[in-house]
Amino acid sequence: MFSDKQNVILKLIRQHRSLQKELDLTHKMMMGNGESKYLIIVHLLGDFKKNLLEHVKLENEKFYDVLVENDEKGKAQAMEFRESMKGIEEVVLKFIDEYRNEEKLKSEFADFQNEFELMVSKLNSRISLEEVGVYSYWSMVI
Ligand SMILES: [Fe+2]
Repeated sequence: MFSDKQNVILKLIRQHRSLQKELDLTHKMMMGNGESKYLIIVHLLGDFKKNLLEHVKLENEKFYDVLVENDEKGKAQAMEFRESMKGIEEVVLKFIDEYRNEEKLKSEFADFQNEFELMVSKLNSRISLEEVGVYSYWSMVI
């Protein structure tokens, strides 16, 4: 049996994996041919945005807020993580909103591709920092 705390961590990690899968799929579409790919990418970005917001909400409410309240020692680091996540979230949402339009995506596809790669690497490093850092810390101390 897992504790509530472990269940939250497992859920957050599962959400990370599915966010990464969505980004992989978008990347595959991006590399593919065919006129339909632009519209498909617009839809994939929409889904990704929805799932990212859901993840950040759960992560803030059930993870960072709880950590800040319950652990004096880890408080500063948790607050720092929470803040930097807000920054990343803003950048990602701005990027998605900018390209969630078929015409714009098509006409500025090279820019989109470059920015997409950058966003993916930022998110991936953020995700592994969380998983090897604060998530494992939390499962040990509280
Ligand atoms: Fe996360």
